[in-house]
Amino acid sequence: MYRILRKRHLNDLITWMEIEAPLAAGSTKAGQFAILRLDEFGERFPLTICGYDRAERTITIVFQHAGKSTKMLSLMEEGDYISDVVGPLGNPSKLDGLKCVALVGGGVGCADTYPIALELHESGAEVDMYAGFRNKDIVILEDEMRAVSTNLYITTDDGSYAEKGFITDKLKVVLESGRKYDRIITIGPAIMMKYVAETTKPFGIKTVAALNSIMVDGTGMCGGCRVTVGGEIKFTCVNGPEFDAHLVDWDELLLRTGFYRDKEEEEAENICRLKGGVRSCH
Ligand SMILES: Cc1cc2nc3c(=O)[nH]c(=O)nc-3n(C[C@H](O)[C@H](O)[C@H](O)COP(=O)(O)OP(=O)(O)OC[C@H]3O[C@@H](n4cnc5c(N)ncnc54)[C@H](O)[C@@H]3O)c2cc1C
Ligand code: FES
Repeated sequence: MYRILRKRHLNDLITWMEIEAPLAAGSTKAGQFAILRLDEFGERFPLTICGYDRAERTITIVFQHAGKSTKMLSLMEEGDYISDVVGPLGNPSKLDGLKCVALVGGGVGCADTYPIALELHESGAEVDMYAGFRNKDIVILEDEMRAVSTNLYITTDDGSYAEKGFITDKLKVVLESGRKYDRIITIGPAIMMKYVAETTKPFGIKTVAALNSIMVDGTGMCGGCRVTVGGEIKFTCVNGPEFDAHLVDWDELLLRTGFYRDKEEEEAENICRLKGGVRSCH
């Protein structure tokens, strides 16, 4: 059992939690994730390990209230216990030797870019962070990102905070101005990562995307997280989560992640009803 030590709602949609998880805390590296199960009846779902404290034996997660499990987790309190936290899973980000990197996050994915930024920043690399949000109400971790970046660019789709537009528009402008990166890493909604890949391709910069495929077992056995990369079948949980963004079959990924949407929406509605109304869930 894994105790929730600290919890903070970053906004109505996104929650930050620090969890006692000695095994994961002892060996996690940037880019890895954990699979959680809230209780014996719960489904297993993956979340990136956004931070860890080896001395305190804790990990940090930041999650969007996307559906049933994440909404239930957001309702748990400090002192409550999570049944399973299995990790670290997946391969760490390959950051050795990188000197100038762009990290492009979308929404809650910005929290997932943070441990990568921190590691690069501590190694002396230049780190430009691009953070895209739908509107000002869901901007998260601005101070934390600023502290580990050389340049921080924030956009909101509706212009309610910082620059108006998609984060890929900003990335394109900076690339066109002549800024050179030896790697671009993107984490966020699949549709955003697809457009990041399209934006960077003409500039010939190696671009890596951390894929958010549907996962079940996290061990390469169930096939749930199958993706096609460069015409080959890969499993995000064991071969990823990071892949060459210019080789990912984005349309297949988009199709597969939406496969259970009707069922997921129905389950999430049930949680909202249990909580006493849809408004309190968002
Ligand atoms: C490697 C990895 C790391 C992730 N890290 C984060 C993170 O740090 N923060 C965060 O908010 N989200 C993260 N996600 C997405 C997160 O796993 C889903 O939001 C979560 O599983 C939703 O479950 P639910 O029951 O709340 O919602 P559901 O209603 O079940 O699903 C809502 C949406 O979440 C996605 N999803 C559902 N089940 C899974 C699953 N088993 N595996 C992956 N995606 C699923 C689908 O796109 C679905 O449409 C990550 C996904 C992957 C693969
Ligand atoms: S989650 Fe089952 S194979 Fe990857």
